[in-house]
Amino acid sequence: MNSRIVSTGMYVPPKVVTNFDLEKMMDTSDDWIKQRSGIKERRWVEPGETTLSMAAKASLQALERANLKPDDIDMIIFGCLVSDYIFPGTGCLLQKELGFTRTIPALDIRNQCSGFVYSISLADALIKSGQYKRILIVGSEVHSTSLDKTTRGRDVSVLFGDGAGAMIVESCDNSQSKIIDSELHSEGQYAESLAILKPSPNDFPRLKADSGPGAEIYPYMDGKLVFKNAVIRMTEVMKNILNRNSLTTKDVDFVIAHQANMRINQMVLNQLEMPFEKTHHTLDRYGNTTMATIPITFDEAVLLGKIKRGDLVVFVAFGAGFTWGANLLRY
Ligand code: ACO
Repeated sequence: MNSRIVSTGMYVPPKVVTNFDLEKMMDTSDDWIKQRSGIKERRWVEPGETTLSMAAKASLQALERANLKPDDIDMIIFGCLVSDYIFPGTGCLLQKELGFTRTIPALDIRNQCSGFVYSISLADALIKSGQYKRILIVGSEVHSTSLDKTTRGRDVSVLFGDGAGAMIVESCDNSQSKIIDSELHSEGQYAESLAILKPSPNDFPRLKADSGPGAEIYPYMDGKLVFKNAVIRMTEVMKNILNRNSLTTKDVDFVIAHQANMRINQMVLNQLEMPFEKTHHTLDRYGNTTMATIPITFDEAVLLGKIKRGDLVVFVAFGAGFTWGANLLRY
């Protein structure tokens, strides 16, 4: 028994926010953002659009493309950085929103930018164990409402965008199209180097009525530390997964790398001596959509014909935690 990717879907809100728009909110420039990250614009939600509504749109597209109905799905794995409610998780909301008549399990995971590679690894293992036949994986992120859009938060807020990506993984006995292997890691000593720390249950009281929001309710990132570790770890995990499967970078047809920074991905590919044409980027138009970057970028690369059935593909990601990992698959 193997598992394979059947279909994908994606959604980004229609509202485009360019680097020039950000110049009006904070002390930054189009040149700085483009040079340091490769990002030109991103999408932001408007009132009425939520983590759930974007997740539902991406999921419905994936279902439609596979000619499936919600009840054909056996399990939902959902991930996001900031969910609609503190609890319950948005996975349960998605189960209701898509109109399931079956009480299938909905699992919410919290692995940030590595969420999709973690989820694919988990879905593959659950399918191989025979527990489920078809799993819907969704990453949906509303970042724009959690960002500090003043100059104080400019190092983080220019990088992130809103969007959702979905993927359906199902059991198969086709050896030409399958998830081959996954490798996952974490290094919790860096948990606070990329985090939103407040509000926290460790504070008494958790929310103080008389104080306005402080910097800790916004994402904090030690950018240089994240950058350095992202390059080292993404390179390392790709080498590991290929070595373990007696493959080299020359065997790989395409790499879908997490979309955090164009320079990070360039360095990873350089170190692996892989041509830049073997990858695709959506970062320039959507920014970093955290768990949604892998399915969005894969979806676009498939639609553009850059990835074809039978191609050997690697997904690789690095993010908060720190967490990182890779999936190796034949599409
Ligand atoms: N506009 C203009 N200037 C800025 C901005 C901005 N938006 N942000 C920071 N600066 C300034 C800094 O204050 C600094 O000024 P100084 O020299 O006077 O002190 C200067 O620009 C240089 O800042 P650096 O931090 O040295 O810039 P760097 O080249 O390191 O780039 C960046 C910063 C883009 C954040 C980079 O470090 C990076 O991409 N890091 C990794 C991001 C990432 O991968 N995140 C992980 C995923 S997120 C997740 O998992 C949730």
